[in-house]
Order: sequence, then structure tokens, then C-alpha cells
Amino acid sequence: MNEHPEFTVETENIEATQEQLEAVYEAVRAVLRAERAEGRYPCIILTDDDTIHACNRDYRSVDRPTDVLSFPADEGEDLLAPPDGFLGDIMISVPTAERQASELGHSLERELAFLTVHGMLHLLGYDHIEPDDESRMLARQRALIAEIEPRLAPKDGARFAEGKTFTGEDEKQMGPNEITEMSIKERKSELIALALKARERAYVPYSGFRVGACLLTRSGQLFLGCNIENAAYSPTNCAERTALFKAVSEGETEFAALAVASDSEHYTYPCGVCRQVLSEFCAAEMPVFCANRDGSFIETTLGGLLPMAFTKEDMGS
Ligand code: THU
Repeated sequence: MNEHPEFTVETENIEATQEQLEAVYEAVRAVLRAERAEGRYPCIILTDDDTIHACNRDYRSVDRPTDVLSFPADEGEDLLAPPDGFLGDIMISVPTAERQASELGHSLERELAFLTVHGMLHLLGYDHIEPDDESRMLARQRALIAEIEPRLAPKDGARFAEGKTFTGEDEKQMGPNEITEMSIKERKSELIALALKARERAYVPYSGFRVGACLLTRSGQLFLGCNIENAAYSPTNCAERTALFKAVSEGETEFAALAVASDSEHYTYPCGVCRQVLSEFCAAEMPVFCANRDGSFIETTLGGLLPMAFTKEDMGS
């Protein structure tokens, strides 16, 4: 399985399955091939949150766990030159990868492959500090993951991350029930990724147009929705209302943010009916992220989408 005798995947304080190790090997091989770096090799350590936290603190002065750290050999402080072909070290936290996988609704193998690709690209000189460099790295990552994904072990019992309280590192610091403006800002791309993911369940035999929505509750839960069409057309339910009704039917009535995405290259805005239904439960200030199929988005609010809404307050005499 390991074609590179020098290239090692070690585990420290965790156990990894054969499928998980294979996902990492597969990702390393794909990057080396695509970047024409065959013959070069990394050292990969799969570990737990405490170990990566200690490294993050000691080497980057960031006092919390993270998903992946990379240490290019040519930036090391060693006085000795790195051995020929050695690219450097990559450390991945498996528990963090596991959380991210379930939040994004894909397998742990997929997440490990993604983090390995990310770390490998860093070792090969890519970075994401400047916007131009970032888009170059993201494009590379996307292409590599698309290539690797079909070769990974199929996920058993894949589920959407729905109705699930966040367990992300920021939330640990904030307390589980505190959704702040800051945390919404930091989660924009996560909500949009989940809205894109939610599209996959769209039932659209008539329009062929898939829409996905991701609704974040004030209590920190996520509800995903897709559009569900009907032979009689008008009973069709939009993605946004599917997400909202799922949440309300589970007892959630306070909302913090909504992301919507579709198959279109244009931004996807909630239709008029959804705007009205959302305004029954959501404040005019609630942020709404309207994304396109590539994840680009514009940010607005429910009040921006439906000014002067008719609400229950308007029914008083
Ligand atoms: N659709 C949504 O799911 N959300 C919107 O905000 C706009 C429209 C769906 C309904 C229908 O299944 C398809 O898109 C075409 O109108």
C-alpha cells in the first residue's frame, strides 16, 4: 500500500483504521503526482486534540487545538540540512477531523484526505495569506479532492449534520449556547458549504434546479433543507422552508443566520413566499448569505430582502 518506503504515517495517542490510513496515503500520492514531486516524501502524524494543541501553542503561539499543522523541512530551525527529498511534517488531529466531517456531512476519510492535501500543498510552498495565493491554493485543493474522493472507501451511514450542536473549538471557549455576531461571521463559509451539501437531497424531477439551505438556530443547532417538488407543482416546498419547518417542528423558534445555495452561477435569493415565512420567526436583522454554486455569496439580512414585512405585530388594532 505504501509505495514510498521513506514516507510514513504515524499515529500518536489515537488509533486509526486501515481506511483512514489509506485515505491519507491516497492524498499524499495524488499530491506528489499532480505536483510532479514523486520521490519526495513527508512525515505525517495522526494524533489527538491535546497533542496538536501543544504544538500549536509551542510553534505558532496559538493556544487551542486545530485540524492540521504543517512544518516545511526547508523552514526548520535544524542546523543539519533535511535529508534528500524530505518535505517536512504534517500533524492532523483525528478528533477535530471527525467533528468537521460530521458538521460538513461527509466521511472522516474524506476529511483526512482533505487535511492531508492541505498540509502537503503547504509543504510544497503553497500558502493562503495573500488573496491571490489563497485562490490558487483553494483551486488546487478542490481539483485534488475531486480526483481523490471517488477512490475513498464509501462512507457508511453518511448523514447531514443536522440538528446538531456545534462542538467546534471556538464554541468551547464561548459556551455551547452562545451564538454571537462574531461566531456567525466565522461560520459563514461553513453555513454556505452545508447549504451546498444540502442541495444533494433536492427532489427536483420537474425543474432539475437544486436548492439547499442551512439554518443556524440561536441555540447553535444546524438544520439543513432542500427543495421538494411535486407533480401538482404548487405544493413544492423550497429549501429554506424545509429547513425552517424542520427546525420549528423540533422546537426551535429562534434563529441566528441562514445560508442558501443552488446550482446556479448566480446568487440564490429566497423567493417571496420564503421571505414571508421566515419573517414569522426571524428578526429583520438576521443575516442571510445568498450563495452561488461555487460558494461565492452576498450577505444581506431578512429585512433587506423583505422590507416593511407584514407580521403578527401589524395585526393589532
Ligand atoms: N426554490 C427554492 O428552493 N428556494 C428559493 O428560494 C427559490 C426557488 C426551488 C423551488 C423549485 O423547486 C425550484 O427552486 C424552481 O423554482
